[in-house]
Amino acid sequence: MTVAVVPGSFDPPTLGHVDVISRAVEVFDRVLIAVVANPSKSPLFTADERTAMLEEICTGWENTEVDSFDGLLVDFARDKGAGVIVKGLRAVSDFEYELQMAQMNHHLSGVQTVFLPTSPDHAYLSSSLVKEVGRFGGSLDGLVSPVVAAALKERFE
Ligand code: PNS
Repeated sequence: MTVAVVPGSFDPPTLGHVDVISRAVEVFDRVLIAVVANPSKSPLFTADERTAMLEEICTGWENTEVDSFDGLLVDFARDKGAGVIVKGLRAVSDFEYELQMAQMNHHLSGVQTVFLPTSPDHAYLSSSLVKEVGRFGGSLDGLVSPVVAAALKERFE
């Protein structure tokens, strides 16, 4: 059984993240969504809030689990028995940094990274842009799940 870990800050999860998770669910037996508790930029939502949003988003997929972690992703993956890291690629510009991280993670633990392309419909989405749209009261339709739209609305009210 192949367990894949889909890591990220998910601050907040966007429909781009959901797209990557949905593709990982098709390919791997189990998908563990790994929320970085303390990302480098101070997050808008706590780790518990981001985890709860992802749990609600993933309720329809039985082979998913959501957890949060601190420290190195490769240590978390090893502790959870995940043999593969999955990353979504929106555009060629994502590739350079993602390749660097994949090579570092392989150097650290031998873990393989699999890249999945996102739908072009979501190529322009990022958590930062979604937060900016939410902060200034723009429409979040087509950008995030309803649970995330409600949380952003509440946070910026
Ligand atoms: O959603 P993001 O912020 O682009 O995700 C980046 C993430 C969380 C995958 C990356 O920062 C990470 O793996 N952080 C955990 C710490 C770690 O293992 N760093 C070394 C990566 S080579």
